[in-house]
Amino acid sequence: LIDGQLKRWNGDTANIFSTISSTESYEQTLLGTIPQLGEKEAMEALDAASRAYDRGKGEWPTMKVADRIACLEKFTEQMKTKRAEVVKLLMWEIGKSLADSEKEFDRTIDYIYDTIEDYKKMDRDSAKFHKEGGIHAHIRRGPLGVVLCLGPYNYPLNEAFCLLIPAMIMGNTTIFKPAKFGVLLMSPILEAFQNSFPKGVINIIYGRGRVLATPILKSGRVDVLALIGNSSTAKVLQILHPKSNRLRLVLGLEAKNPAIVLPDADLDLAIEECLAGSLSFNGQRCTALKVLYVHESIEDEFNKRFSERVDQLKFGNPWEEGVKLTPLPEPHKPAYIQELIDDAQEKGASIINSKGGETSENYIFPAVMYPVSKEMRLFHEEQFGPVVPIVPFKDIEQPLNDIADSNYGQQVSLFGKDIETLSQLIDSLVNLVCRVNLNSSCQRGPDVYPFTGRKDSAVSTLSVHDALRSFSIRTFVASKDN
Ligand code: G3H
Repeated sequence: LIDGQLKRWNGDTANIFSTISSTESYEQTLLGTIPQLGEKEAMEALDAASRAYDRGKGEWPTMKVADRIACLEKFTEQMKTKRAEVVKLLMWEIGKSLADSEKEFDRTIDYIYDTIEDYKKMDRDSAKFHKEGGIHAHIRRGPLGVVLCLGPYNYPLNEAFCLLIPAMIMGNTTIFKPAKFGVLLMSPILEAFQNSFPKGVINIIYGRGRVLATPILKSGRVDVLALIGNSSTAKVLQILHPKSNRLRLVLGLEAKNPAIVLPDADLDLAIEECLAGSLSFNGQRCTALKVLYVHESIEDEFNKRFSERVDQLKFGNPWEEGVKLTPLPEPHKPAYIQELIDDAQEKGASIINSKGGETSENYIFPAVMYPVSKEMRLFHEEQFGPVVPIVPFKDIEQPLNDIADSNYGQQVSLFGKDIETLSQLIDSLVNLVCRVNLNSSCQRGPDVYPFTGRKDSAVSTLSVHDALRSFSIRTFVASKDN
């Protein structure tokens, strides 16, 4: 979708295969074909977005609040009619369970409506006058310009829209490149975009991220890089901009969120939360629990019961009843997880669940590894897949020091009962991470809460309220008291 036109394409294409095997032996099913656009089309999209923004003077950035909202509402009504198609594609393309695919769709619709409500409130607040030092002022919020959005494969709808919707509603114009896995599910909603917004406000381009993003950023005509994905990709991309000091970054990146299971934890609760936290959607969530610190006084019982629960998880196709583990969309992922397992085994850890590491072309059964220590890759790398490291600890200073030393700083889960201990830990952890979950696993939602991280985990905050601010700038309208 470039400049309001759904373009025909006769150039290079890429086949998109299903993640799911329909038979017991692994078989790829062709789901569809997408254009592999190049620099020329990337620049056409950029030109369209720049024209629509027109240095802040375009139709979209100057449109009345109510009219921009009307465009969003029209789009959302049309998108809602595509729920079944999008949900099906989420299952087929990225292997997300039916329940989670439906949740992703519904949560995205809620996110749009919540954004509209917050935007209305922001607009009402901008009418309020302030008086300080003889100056009367009111504060308006304006757009930043052209936004390049790159979304992730694990939430190809929700995370992409958490960037696009606030960017658009604030009056920016956008170029969006969906993730490689989860690209087809944009097709059912392309026409809704086309029908609802003036041309050039949203341009959707398919192809390789670096091929498309590189010329767009090198042109220096992009004002915001909005990306949910790897910090290494973000670093490579942001420096391409010739005036990178002018480039606003809105980045949701990696994490290695730990759980700390204290000696007095309710083990039933801790085990179920750690199970869901580490292995929902096969561990492919930036918020997943990626390391479990378990106090040595309870580790035998925790390890035994946790491993048994992992072995009970059912693998299958996403629409099947009771299935918790599904095929992995990234073809290299089973081999990568196996590398982490091999490395940990060579350095002294073992797989402690009986099914751990069973593998085929597109899945690997979750391995619970114990005892994991600092020399191992699994201790540091964001596995983003089905392997759960358990690190025993004696003194609480050990996990606290590890969290302080980590390259990441998104969230922590604490499991324990003693209020005094928990509050002391919270006091330490609020300086190290951006969300502390008490007796519950880490998660992003509800989406109205701030979602951010320290160090390599994020730049800026994504929640309904904060995202509107991330994609805009304040301007004072001031007059002297005379
Ligand atoms: O991958 C990162 C997502 O924002 C995680 O969201 O905690 O709702 O699964 P979630």
